[in-house]
Amino acid sequence: MVERKKLLITGASGFLGWNLCRAAHDRFMVTGVSYSRPVAVDGVVARQCDLRDGGAVASLFASVTPDLVVHVAALVNPNDCQERPEASRDINVDAALRIAEHCGAGNIPCVFISTDLVFDGSRPPYSEESAPHPISRYGEHKLEAETGMRSRCHDLLICRVPLMYGDAPPGAGSFIQPMIAALREGREITLFTDEYRTPACGASVAQGILLALEKARGIIHLGGRERLSRFDFGQKLAASMKIKAPRIKGILQREVATGAPRPPDVSFDSAKAFALGYAPLSIDEELARLACIRSFEP
Ligand SMILES: NC(=O)c1ccc[n+]([C@@H]2O[C@H](COP(=O)([O-])OP(=O)(O)OC[C@H]3O[C@@H](n4cnc5c(N)ncnc54)[C@H](OP(=O)(O)O)[C@@H]3O)[C@@H](O)[C@H]2O)c1
Repeated sequence: MVERKKLLITGASGFLGWNLCRAAHDRFMVTGVSYSRPVAVDGVVARQCDLRDGGAVASLFASVTPDLVVHVAALVNPNDCQERPEASRDINVDAALRIAEHCGAGNIPCVFISTDLVFDGSRPPYSEESAPHPISRYGEHKLEAETGMRSRCHDLLICRVPLMYGDAPPGAGSFIQPMIAALREGREITLFTDEYRTPACGASVAQGILLALEKARGIIHLGGRERLSRFDFGQKLAASMKIKAPRIKGILQREVATGAPRPPDVSFDSAKAFALGYAPLSIDEELARLACIRSFEP
């Protein structure tokens, strides 16, 4: 029997890391790393490590001896990163470079999870060949990590992921969980009519990352199939919950002051991933199969 490879996944207590652990644990021996919250996936070995601590990261690599690493962990809220740039740099840049150094030194293939927010949103759709130009601190730091990791780890794959939605472990979530709660309770939600994304379901993105690990090199974009505004996404969500008169108010980006600048349209061109077999469903299909929505149906 062929021994399964040892896969180290950081950010395993978060939204995407949890989805990735669930997708990977029957194919790999998975160690899931978290910081402040537990890792809650059967069949995954849980480890706690502050990735900002160089000694702790060295011990982690020495004890796990991974064959592959997917670095998911990050400070992901752009407004937080804008307000606390040093906190963002510590985890989004310095910890990422440290992980790349260990991978480089050990000849360990590494996947780095990056973002559509490395683009400024003025010339969509964005393919892997498009020139990045971030406008927020978060986007700048993720791009700095991409560049720095590449120079430290020769076998680095960068998976840029879009705005994601889907099932999540306790204590984590995607942008739809608060929307589901508000819609269910009949509260009004306000959503941008002029902010466009190619959102994808976390479970499908997780499958895309595993596919890319096997087949892709360099950079790959794992966007969803459809480009739509947040307002239109909210309408689809309400329809999937069978809510007849959802209280969704459309607003424009310029009507709201946010901590971090918001790009208008960072839609991905994901043709490269689709050609490799990445197969996210349509948003309507993804929403129909999500447990977090079915549990709220009347
Ligand atoms: N969510 C999106 O829509 C989206 C869109 C584009 C790109 N991304 C990228 O996708 C990745 C995952 O995002 P997500 O939404 O899953 O994030 P998330 O739910 O906020 O999870 C973040 C993870 O990072 C871990 N972490 C934070 N600081 C840490 C530290 N000092 N040491 C060790 N672990 C630490 C957290 O651990 P604890 O919770 O245990 O503290 C958690 O597991 C990120 O790289 C992000 O840039 C996300």
